Amino acid sequence: MSPAPLLLLLLLLLILSTTIAAAAGQLRPGYYLETCPKAELIVRDVIKKAMIREPRNAASVMRLQFHDCFVNGCDASLLLDDTPNMLGEKLSLSNINSLRSYEVIDEVKEELEKACPETVSCADIVVMAARDAVSLTGGPHWEVKLGREDSLTASQEDSDNIMPSPRANASSLIDLFDKFNLSIKDLVALSGSHSIGKGRCFSIMFRTIQPIRHRPARPSL
Ligand code: HEM
Ligand SMILES: *[C@@H]1O[C@H](CO)[C@@H](O)[C@H](O)[C@H]1NC(C)=O
Ligand SMILES: *[C@@H]1O[C@H](CO)[C@@H](O)[C@H](O)[C@H]1NC(C)=O
Repeated sequence: MSPAPLLLLLLLLLILSTTIAAAAGQLRPGYYLETCPKAELIVRDVIKKAMIREPRNAASVMRLQFHDCFVNGCDASLLLDDTPNMLGEKLSLSNINSLRSYEVIDEVKEELEKACPETVSCADIVVMAARDAVSLTGGPHWEVKLGREDSLTASQEDSDNIMPSPRANASSLIDLFDKFNLSIKDLVALSGSHSIGKGRCFSIMFRTIQPIRHRPARPSL
C-alpha cells in the first residue's frame, strides 16, 4: 500500500490537534502581556496587601486553588454562589464554613477590572494568587501558564464526591492524586502546605484518639 493515505491521515490529525488546541485556548505564560501587561503585578500587589492585613490570607488563598482545580479543572467554578437551580461548591462538605478569603480574589478582580476590563479570567486570578501567596510567604516561586476560561456552572455534588475528607486514608489519597497525574511525592509535597494556616479542631481531633503504641522498653543489661 502506498504511504500517501497514511501521510494524509497524519496531516489531518496534525491540523485537527492544532485547531483543537487553539479552540481550547492553549495555556501559556505571558498570556496577558499584550491585553493586560500589568496583570501579574496587580495580582501580586493585592495579595501582598491582603497578607499584611491578615497573614492567614496566604494560606486560605493557596487552598482556594486546590479546591477549585480538583473539581472539574481550574475554572473558578468554586467562586460561583448558589442560584435557584444550581447548587454551587461553596457549601459542599469540604468547603462550607471552611474555605475563606474569597473577598481577596474579589479585590484582585476589582483592581484588574479597573486596569483592563473584562480581560483577565477569575480562573487565572486564583492560579496567580495562589502562586503569589506561596512565594510572598517565602516559599518557591513558579511561572504560571494562563488563558483559562471561567465556568458558568458549578457542582456541589462533584465537590462532595471529589474533595478528600480529613478522614481519608493514605491509599485513597494516593489514588485520588494519581487521577490528576500527581505522584506520591507530589501528594507529600503539597500536603506540606498545611504547615501554614489554620484548621478547626473539629477537622482533626479524631486523629488524636488513636492509641500510640510504645515499643516495650528493652531490658537493660
Ligand atoms: C491531601 C489531601 C488534603 C486533605 C485531606 C486536606 C484537608 C484539610 C483540612 C481538613 C483542613 C482544615 C479545614 C478546616 O478545619 O476548616 C485543611 C486546611 C488547609 N489546607 Fe488542606 N487538605 C489536603 C490537601 C491540601 C492541598 C493540596 C493544599 C494546597 C496545596 C491544601 C492547603 C490547605 C491550607 C493552606 C489549609 C489552611 C487554610 C486556612 O488557614 O484557611 N490542602 N486541609
Ligand atoms: C481506605 O479508604 C478506602 C475508602 O474509604 C477503603 O475502601 C479502603 O479499604 C481503605 N484502605 C485501608 C488500607 O484502610
Ligand atoms: C494524565 O496523563 C495521561 C497520559 O499522559 C493523560 O491522558 C490524562 O489526560 C492526564 N490526566 C490529567 C487529569 O491531566
